[in-house]
Parts: sequence; structure tokens; C-alpha cells
Amino acid sequence: MNRRGSRVSALTLMIAVLAPFSAFAGDDVVETGRLLAILLDAGRGAVAANQPLINDASKGDKGFTPDVFEQQLKEKFKGRTGVDLGNLKGGGVPELAQKLLPELVGAAKQTVANNQATINKPGVAYKGFTPAHFGTQAAAAFSGKTGIYMKQTTTDGLLRNANNKADEFESGMMKKLGDAGYPRQGDKVMSEAVGGAVRVMLPLFYGKGCLGCHGEPKGETDVSGYKKEGAKEGDLGGAVSVKLPAK
Ligand code: HEC
Repeated sequence: MNRRGSRVSALTLMIAVLAPFSAFAGDDVVETGRLLAILLDAGRGAVAANQPLINDASKGDKGFTPDVFEQQLKEKFKGRTGVDLGNLKGGGVPELAQKLLPELVGAAKQTVANNQATINKPGVAYKGFTPAHFGTQAAAAFSGKTGIYMKQTTTDGLLRNANNKADEFESGMMKKLGDAGYPRQGDKVMSEAVGGAVRVMLPLFYGKGCLGCHGEPKGETDVSGYKKEGAKEGDLGGAVSVKLPAK
């Protein structure tokens, strides 16, 4: 090996040895992506928790206002991350997340505001406002405001809304997220630096509450008018995908 070669490899070795111990900037970007993805999913959860109320045909005004939603969103998010959206400067929340989380809260509240007429319509049970509709709309509103790519997606075989179609990277990642060995609990994300961006994916696994629409019998039409996919509890339902500039 010539001298330059050995110098390069010594440097490479040093980086390889040090990298796992150094808190390089990428960690903050990944954590920001993780928190954003969990926040979108917490919003899905808040809508899911109110689905019986939203679908109550006997009621007009449901009282599910943007402020009521925000309160529940904050609670769910804190329960999953320990982060208090009312005090982002308190803990170890990355600066980028301190900037972007309030933007997503705003987009999520705006989505609930935009759907008030639908939610409060009397005499109709299923109104076409579900966690998935919330997630699609809130992610799009957030992306529109910030320029940050965010969407809920799934594998092609499960795809309902063509706007949620996975790109090649997301398809590849979901193969790994769907593996039986991947933890079903704990909000563990997968991330990778691709070009000048950091891509972060939070898996969404089907729980019992999802199966009324996505479960069995496969091919039967669900309440939302789509064909059920025949999924089972614990199967990968899709993912929240975020792409942030690597800085
Ligand atoms: C009331 C029926 C219903 C329930 C319950 C439901 N979904 Fe869906 N899901 C839908 C509909 C409808 C869409 C398409 C929404 C749209 O048009 O944006 C969808 C879309 C999705 C998507 C986005 C990808 C795509 O196909 O467009 C994911 C991911 C998803 N659902 C996962 C879940 C998970 C996980 C649960 C349970 C936590 C769940 N869903 C519960 C009806 C449902």
C-alpha cells in the first residue's frame, strides 16, 4: 500500500471507530423526523379515539373542535415521546424539531378545522373523515407550509389513495419494517442518509381497531367504500415517511 493509501485508510478507520460515539448532526435530524412522524400518527390516534362520536348520526355539533383535538394530540404525543408540546425548550428536543413540531400541530388543527362541517353533519354515520383522511390531509398541509416532504404511505398491494403511493426507497424500507423481527412497540424508526437528505420512516402496524376496514374477509367492501385487504393484527399497514435536509 502506498503512503497516501495508508493515510486514507487510517482516517477511515478513525471515523469508523469514532462515529458510533459522536453525536453528529445527523442524530438531531433523525430525531426530528421521528418526532414529526409520531406527531402525525398521534393525530391519527386522536381522530380514531373520536371515531364513534364523529360517526354518530344522531348528533349535530360534536364538540370535536380544533382546540379539543389539540389537547388530545398533546396528551397522546407526550405519552409516546415524553415531549411536552407546550414547552419544547425544556428537554433535549433538537432545535429543528422545536421549529417544525408547531408547524405540524398547526397543519393538524387546520385539517380538523377544515372538516368541521363534515364532522358536524347530522343524519349521516360514515362521513369520510377517518384517521387516514386526517393523515393524508395534515401531512399535505404541513408539506405545503414548510416544504418538508411528509406522507403516510404503504406497500403497493395495500394502496388505497394513489397520492400515498410509495417511492422506490419507501418500498425497500417497508420490506424491512414488515419483517416479523421488527419491534411492534416502541416507535422505532428506520433512517438513512440519501443524497443530501435524511429519510426517516415510522412503521404503522395494524391493531384490532384497523381490521374493521383493512382486515378480513379480504375483498369485502368496508364502511369507507374500499375493499378490505385481509390484513391480520400485527401486520405492517404502512408507514409515515419524512425527508429532511441533511444540513
Ligand atoms: C374506517 C375505516 C378505516 C380504519 C378503521 C382504518 N383505515 Fe386505513 N385507510 C382507510 C381509508 C379510507 C384510507 C384511504 C384514505 C385516503 O383516501 O387518503 C386508508 C389509508 C391508510 C393508509 C395510507 C395508505 C393508503 O392506502 O392510502 C395507511 C398506512 C393506513 N390506512 C393504515 C391504517 C392503520 C394502521 C389503521 C389502524 C390504526 C387504519 N388504517 C384504520 C380506512 C380505514
